[in-house]
Amino acid sequence: MKIEQIKEEALHKLKEAKDVESIKTLSVSYIGRKGILTQYLREIPNLPEEERPKAGKMANELKEIIQKAFDAKIERIEDESHEIDLGIDISIPGRSVQRGTLHPITQITHRICDIFTGLGFDVVEGPEIESDYYNFEALNIPKNHPARDMQDTFYVSENIVLRTHTSPLQVRVMEKQKPPVRIIAPGKVYRCDSDVRHTPMFHQVEGLMVDDMVSFSDLKGILTAFVHQMFDEQTSLRFRPSFFPFTEPSAEVDIVCVICRGKGCRVCSQTGWLEILGSGMVHPKVFENVGYDTTQIRGFAFGMGVERVAMLKYGIDDIRKFFENDVRFLRQF
Ligand code: PHE
Repeated sequence: MKIEQIKEEALHKLKEAKDVESIKTLSVSYIGRKGILTQYLREIPNLPEEERPKAGKMANELKEIIQKAFDAKIERIEDESHEIDLGIDISIPGRSVQRGTLHPITQITHRICDIFTGLGFDVVEGPEIESDYYNFEALNIPKNHPARDMQDTFYVSENIVLRTHTSPLQVRVMEKQKPPVRIIAPGKVYRCDSDVRHTPMFHQVEGLMVDDMVSFSDLKGILTAFVHQMFDEQTSLRFRPSFFPFTEPSAEVDIVCVICRGKGCRVCSQTGWLEILGSGMVHPKVFENVGYDTTQIRGFAFGMGVERVAMLKYGIDDIRKFFENDVRFLRQF
């Protein structure tokens, strides 16, 4: 067979071949060990001497052409089959992935923790199912004390409750740690209560600072720094005398109404002020319960409602919105 013939035939057969397998078989039959072209090359030494160089050159060139053409077609078939396998229509616009957001309460909790860690406080956590001792007794709220009426407690059993505040953390931390102590404790708390301002589960952040020289001015200074960072520098505070069995003296802290700036509106019930937390100097009884020397140390504590702060920060008038899990509401934060 003439070399030209071999070329024509090989390229024609390649054109007919529809899949990778048959192209490979074809390739073997031309340039494989026993292939037509290979055999042709082998017979060149038998040709008349003057024909050998030309024949050799042509045969080698053809070998290269065939090899390239076969490889190219195999590659093309493989590429096409990938597209079919994946079922991709590259003209369709991509489906975007919906991004979630942190729950507003989580975001506010993070923000509160950031501010206090910036002031040198450590973040600690404790159990939500708490013993009567840590939730009440150790905090100077003995059984039958009227203060227990203030807290609509969920009892798990006679001596186990769902914690009604984060204050048990004061006791848990001081039992383990010698002064100085400077902690905040964020977490869920539970009270059997439900209306526009109350949900049976809500969040608090407890704060505690104990050292030999801690005074009520430190409490005022720290809380003022907090409010200025959380809201703005124009947000003033006021301390109102109050009562908690585990602090003496005690104070409730109000901030100037963020809606009307103190003029009086519906949100602040025309008072111009909004309550955000309870606080006070740690009661000596609490120090005694954890074995601290009451002649050497003093401290302050506070407990704030996270939902309260979030409602003021975002101007939300119904606390229940946070827990209805309506994504149209939640996505806004
Ligand atoms: N535990 C109190 C409450 O839930 C708040 C508080 C904390 C008051 C620490 C004083 C000191 O109402």
